[in-house]
Amino acid sequence: MIDHLTLSRPDDWHLHLRDGAMLAAVAPYTARDFARAIVMPNLVPPVRTGADAAAYAARIRAAIPDGADFTPLMTLYLTETTDPDDIEAAHTAGIITALKLYPAGATTNSDAGVKDVTKAHAVFERMEALGIPLLTHGEVTAPEIDIFDREARFIEDVLDPLRQRFPKLRVVMEHITTKDGADYVASATPGSMGATITVQHLMLNRNHMLVGGVRPHYYCLPILKRSTHQDALVEAATSGDPRFFLGTDSAPHPTDLKENACGCAGVFSAPNALACLAQTFEDAGKLDQLEAFVSRNGASFYGLPTNTSTLTLERTDAPQPVPEPIIVGDQTVTVFDPIRPIHWRVVR
Ligand code: NCD
Ligand code: ZN
Repeated sequence: MIDHLTLSRPDDWHLHLRDGAMLAAVAPYTARDFARAIVMPNLVPPVRTGADAAAYAARIRAAIPDGADFTPLMTLYLTETTDPDDIEAAHTAGIITALKLYPAGATTNSDAGVKDVTKAHAVFERMEALGIPLLTHGEVTAPEIDIFDREARFIEDVLDPLRQRFPKLRVVMEHITTKDGADYVASATPGSMGATITVQHLMLNRNHMLVGGVRPHYYCLPILKRSTHQDALVEAATSGDPRFFLGTDSAPHPTDLKENACGCAGVFSAPNALACLAQTFEDAGKLDQLEAFVSRNGASFYGLPTNTSTLTLERTDAPQPVPEPIIVGDQTVTVFDPIRPIHWRVVR
């Protein structure tokens, strides 16, 4: 049995770092295990301009422990008034890596998102010309659409028409949660499309969230789906297909706002994401594909080199405890509990 795994240092292609005290508390957990992360722009107010992104990147760098091998890759929050010249200038200056499309109201802090995608057509044309990837929160938001159908409907109603209209636009479907999403991405020309997949969507399905009591720490968006979808995601992530890569979507919220009559969406997995993934890939008999998923495929999609530094995971006979909640001021943030025993840990 394999008991040590040394990988090129992984990257996280979808991450929420927040701001202020929360940023200071959570950033070190990502920086200790990941070399780079695509940082989501859904602050309040959102990161909308090149100047916003430069200022936020500086705050992130200040929150990273001295000497840490970590680079934040910044994104802008696409709105109906995003200025193509501003994104071009920010991209040319190396300030931003991608733009994020949130359908208005789709998830946490997405009120400023796009209601009518035709309003962003000039931006898409410019992104196409410059090769800037569009990252999508792939859910429609019309109130009549069932929450479990919102991803599949997004592909049909928004994503596919958009890709037909802008065939050179490079798109990442973020945090896919369905077989529909995995199949759609797998059918695209490699290099034209990618998808991130989270740890929780690989390890859990909606029964884990809803059977025997509602478990608010598993509530995230897009919502966990039935087990057939979970199986399809595991299949995609462990296949070695370069279109699929890790985006933890680690999304910290204070514990009392999760354990609440109207709990927030988001799972905080940065502290144990890699150990959980090693277990998931081992359970699928695909440990040999872990490095492609966490260290190679995303870099290759973004046209970046694979990291030359490494990270080692070791297998342990005794299961590793779920990390304790982290302290942020007078609040805590609860860490992802994968339910199954985790026999891996990162060697630090
Ligand atoms: C994210 C958050 O909390 O910012 N929540 C989540 O459930 N994933 C937003 C997002 O990525 O949808
Ligand atoms: Zn997210």
